[in-house]
Amino acid sequence: MLVTGASRGIGAGIARELLDRGCHVGCGYRTGGEAIGKLAADHPGQVLPVRVDLGDEAGAPAAVQSVLDTWGRLDAVILNAGRWQGGRLTTMDPAQWWQVIELNLRGNAALARAALPALTRGHRPSVVLVSSVVGLIGHPGDTAYASAKAAMIGFARSLAKEVGRDGIRVNVLAPGFVDTDMTAAVPDRSRQVISDATLLGRFGTVAEIARAAVFLSEDATFCTGSVLSADGGWSI
Ligand SMILES: NC(=O)c1ccc[n+]([C@@H]2O[C@H](COP(=O)([O-])OP(=O)(O)OC[C@H]3O[C@@H](n4cnc5c(N)ncnc54)[C@H](OP(=O)(O)O)[C@@H]3O)[C@@H](O)[C@H]2O)c1
Repeated sequence: MLVTGASRGIGAGIARELLDRGCHVGCGYRTGGEAIGKLAADHPGQVLPVRVDLGDEAGAPAAVQSVLDTWGRLDAVILNAGRWQGGRLTTMDPAQWWQVIELNLRGNAALARAALPALTRGHRPSVVLVSSVVGLIGHPGDTAYASAKAAMIGFARSLAKEVGRDGIRVNVLAPGFVDTDMTAAVPDRSRQVISDATLLGRFGTVAEIARAAVFLSEDATFCTGSVLSADGGWSI
């Protein structure tokens, strides 16, 4: 397995869920090597730290190769790493606007591309992309981030059509609001609006989102091209 953005937040939760199931997990990180080191110490022999920067498309093949060199196979990729940057269309610097799209889309496409040959030989192979509820319903101040997250859905469905006959499933998880470093700066006023719009009246937890991701990756063996909302009902 390879999980990107496994050093913090949702990705760390996904890695822990897979490790608890006894999987061997390549844990992607960019700056959080220390956190991956702790995960490895807690799960001896199950964790491979994989430094992978979404902004460096050329690094994707090496990330995949490091998993193959260590465990000889790759069965699943969970493309979770991402970066949020908000700003209204009229005020956000156009270069930054495109950077948000590029970072969230290009790096994931590169990793999927690099992983496909190995996945074709994998056991019940799958790709999961972590999108967002805002890619489905939009959100003010998120034209760039929401565009990237919506594009991931079109990407996943197209890829699912390309590789279904190779036995590879490609699915999308669209989480709602979860308290992580990414959302730490969201002001109380916006939190209240989001919470009010969420049918369950609360935010999701990392563990809840992680279980949904692992469900898509490991258990949902007849699902491909699907988008699973894990948003407490925010998007309906
Ligand atoms: N939190 C939410 O409410 C929410 C809602 C919907 C969707 N999501 C999506 O869920 C995913 C995880 O979000 P999160 O809340 O867990 O975020 P987070 O706490 O900010 O963690 C982000 C993770 O992505 C990695 N990362 C960031 N930039 C990277 C880059 N350029 N290259 C490689 N890795 C990079 C970080 O690695 P390092 O720490 O090693 O730098 C970290 O492990 C994201 O795709 C996000 O868009 C989150």
